[in-house]
Amino acid sequence: MKRVLLFLCAFFLILSIRTGLAAGDIKAGEQKSQVCAACHGADGNSSNPVWPNLAGQGEGYLISQLHFFRNGERENAQMSPMAANLSDQDIEDLAAWYSTRKGRIGQTPPEYVVSGEKVYRAGNADTGVPACMACHGPAGEGNAPAQYPALSGQHAAYVETQLNAYRAGTRVNMIMRTIANKMSAEEIKAVSEYVQGLH
Ligand code: HEC
Ligand code: HEC
Repeated sequence: MKRVLLFLCAFFLILSIRTGLAAGDIKAGEQKSQVCAACHGADGNSSNPVWPNLAGQGEGYLISQLHFFRNGERENAQMSPMAANLSDQDIEDLAAWYSTRKGRIGQTPPEYVVSGEKVYRAGNADTGVPACMACHGPAGEGNAPAQYPALSGQHAAYVETQLNAYRAGTRVNMIMRTIANKMSAEEIKAVSEYVQGLH
């Protein structure tokens, strides 16, 4: 019993040292982000709606997605080559930098305020679409520890593309695929426009 305890203590000590070393360095991340700025903006707020905003996104989520692009689990002609040569440390630093930037909020076109909010806050009981809010938060802030991404202020065009990619299975995630499969094209459009102005 004592030996087991000792082993566990040593194990967690090593684990905490390891995480300590691997933690992202915001300053280093800022430097490394210069090659990303062309598309994602100098502060992680992009000007083209097909390039996602990264500012204020959860650190753990950013890390997971960069690993997915690097190992090919997630693919995109523009983004995959950018992740191919990143080291684990680069990924941690970049995630630390972007997660501490301030995200810009866009606007929801008036015609999508009501229909988009309905999907986001209540889902669709008839077709089994859950409320997005349950995981992505009442203000779209996400849930960083659970790695549920923030959606607040994200470009509608990007969000719509992602929901369609989950549905088509070109972006792989069981939770989101199940949900996107149950959504109509109108619901996808409305909720995508809605989160662009959500905060
Ligand atoms: C040539 C443009 C371009 C450059 C440069 C670029 N990206 Fe991207 N990035 C994209 C596009 C486009 C997507 C969306 C891909 C998709 O639709 O799946 C993306 C997606 C991402 C995502 C996923 C965001 C999310 O919400 O899931 C992260 C993280 C990311 N990029 C980080 C970076 C980092 C870090 C760099 C620099 C090392 C970088 N990108 C450079 C175009 C670019
Ligand atoms: C049970 C929790 C849960 C619910 C409910 C949920 N999501 Fe998600 N969502 C996730 C997770 C986890 C991810 C990250 C998946 C991945 O790694 O690709 C995600 C990712 C996303 C993304 C990609 C974000 C990005 O930056 O690329 C979008 C868009 C999205 N969800 C929209 C929605 C919408 C719209 C709804 C409501 C109809 C919804 N989600 C409901 C858990 C959830």
